[in-house]
Amino acid sequence: MRVTVAGQMESTLPAADDHPYRTGPWRPNHTEYDAEDLDVVGTIPADLDGVYLRNTENPVHDSIGNYHPFDGDGMLHMIRFQDGRASYRNRFVRTVGLEAENAAGGPLWAGLAEPPARSRREDGWGARSRMKDASSTDVVVHAGLAKTSFYQCGDLYRLDPRTLENLGRETWGGRFPAEGVSAHTKVDEHTGELLFFNYSTEAPYMHYGVVDAEDRLVHYVDVPLPGPRLPHDMAFTERFAILNECPLFWDQELIAKGIYAVRYHPELPTRFAVIPRRGGSGDVRWFEAAPTYVLHWINAYEEGDEIVLDGFFQHNPQPSLRGANTFYERISRFLSLDQMQSRAHRWRFNLATGATREEDLSDRIMEFGMINGRHGGRPYRYAYNMTAPPGRFLFDGIVKHDLQTGGEVHYAFADGIFASETPMAPRRGSTSEDDGYLLSFITDMNADRSECWIFAAQDLNAGPIARVALPARISSGTHACWAPADALRA
Ligand SMILES: [Fe+2]
Repeated sequence: MRVTVAGQMESTLPAADDHPYRTGPWRPNHTEYDAEDLDVVGTIPADLDGVYLRNTENPVHDSIGNYHPFDGDGMLHMIRFQDGRASYRNRFVRTVGLEAENAAGGPLWAGLAEPPARSRREDGWGARSRMKDASSTDVVVHAGLAKTSFYQCGDLYRLDPRTLENLGRETWGGRFPAEGVSAHTKVDEHTGELLFFNYSTEAPYMHYGVVDAEDRLVHYVDVPLPGPRLPHDMAFTERFAILNECPLFWDQELIAKGIYAVRYHPELPTRFAVIPRRGGSGDVRWFEAAPTYVLHWINAYEEGDEIVLDGFFQHNPQPSLRGANTFYERISRFLSLDQMQSRAHRWRFNLATGATREEDLSDRIMEFGMINGRHGGRPYRYAYNMTAPPGRFLFDGIVKHDLQTGGEVHYAFADGIFASETPMAPRRGSTSEDDGYLLSFITDMNADRSECWIFAAQDLNAGPIARVALPARISSGTHACWAPADALRA
């Protein structure tokens, strides 16, 4: 492996940090590397051709008050596979907020766990305002470029997916929405479109939009809600976009006082907006379902009169405190899949009758589902989900979930080894849905190193067919994606 240091970020984090999401497997990286000819145990398949991108939270500066793991500055990790070889780079997303904090030599904005009034700057981003847009939540490749995003709504930052060169903010020719864009933009691999939404505390509280394959904003409409809501993800089928409002949201009366307290309302339904992909506000069909909160959808598709939507139903969206009333215990409730009891779930919305049917698809606690992207919005059979150790936001296993038979194949990582969200990379020339590879960046606390593990999607149980060394142990993080070579801008 040939490694060069491409950059080093000056950090103001405390030297003896004890924050559980800034130490151990969440220890942030501040060095940027270029690495060629990565060392491999096993064989990198010659028909694996594209890039695997992961966004991670890497706080550069100390927090104002308490640090929440979603506040960390975005850093992309990229591994490029071509002709049986691999190269790697990591880069900070040069957000406007990070550049301002670097210039100030310290934090300027308070994070999720603190009231916006504690921010030192009056301006900022996010549905609740006066936050830093860290662009650290999600990443997709659209119109040839990587686009990072932030769950509280903000800009999309563009990076070259081959080099990770920062290319600045997305503008969509001056039409980028003033309300920002939420994480979990969706790319339809068949049309090349990017579908997105945003949410805010101002009426109409949600918008939905479409950007075409040439990166032009071609559709942007209001999706009025009864009040401020906290949607995190969206879904789509060939003809429809599916937005949601779950009954877990900020108390509207407290917002006026600058307090953003999340409350669950089990007396209210979960509501789904089904809108034709280029439809107007008046075309929205609303469906009601059992109350819950859903972080992530797996996929959706059309079947006869029905829209089938799969995602992770939280059986306990507002877990009560288990331990002492400390900051860590309070935030960890909402970071622990075992406490929220997230299970794969299927909703069916009947467009003819307006009725909803729903059921759990598994008893297992899991989340962060990935699919073969070619089946996005279309019928599919397999999801690749992550399991988590109790009480921690870390991934300790991968489950290949056969939605046709209900069968599950579970690969458990050894103690101290943590994985990434694990996208499916179809083999070049693949002939069936699971004909390809699963990719996961590994943070190995036992050996103090990171690797990218490659699994055959048809034989997850066999373990990795290749383990590719990275130059340094990387921090855990949130979302990841696979982009085949033909989706990257030449
Ligand atoms: Fe997410």
